[in-house]
Amino acid sequence: MCRLWEASLRAASDVPRALVAALGTLGPSLSWAQNPNYRRRPPDATFLDNYGYAVIAGPVDGPPALVVEPRLALGVLLLGPGAHYPLHAHPAVEIYYTLTRDGEWWRDDGPWRQEPPGALIHHAPNARHATRAGASPLLAIYLWRGDLATHATLTAGVRGVTG
Ligand SMILES: [Fe+2]
Repeated sequence: MCRLWEASLRAASDVPRALVAALGTLGPSLSWAQNPNYRRRPPDATFLDNYGYAVIAGPVDGPPALVVEPRLALGVLLLGPGAHYPLHAHPAVEIYYTLTRDGEWWRDDGPWRQEPPGALIHHAPNARHATRAGASPLLAIYLWRGDLATHATLTAGVRGVTG
């Protein structure tokens, strides 16, 4: 993930430089994690080489967090160039704040939307959603509230979304 992390910070644009610099400072302290559901059954052959997340603040029983916080999970999602994180859902409510361009996002019945850096993306509990990176890495800050203990699971796809 380190190679992708550095590239994603370089790809961050049109968001406050101080935020990107702060993430760069945190970088060496981050612990990269992967959803165990995807580790057991990867969505595609290259997914696990191009997907990871790191918790900045979160519950003590989750992946290692820089700050223990039982009421929310806050961290970063990182996808490698061209990675496709297919339709999935979880009971927590989720907000993403995008830091890089060219990422595409899908929610409910779609369609794909290209979201610019600095976009806020809301996923209601159990809403199906998907993300795919463009030619550069995709980096986004996520925030979870609600059921923090239940990992996301892949959901039945609709035509043109899975794969
Ligand atoms: Fe999600």
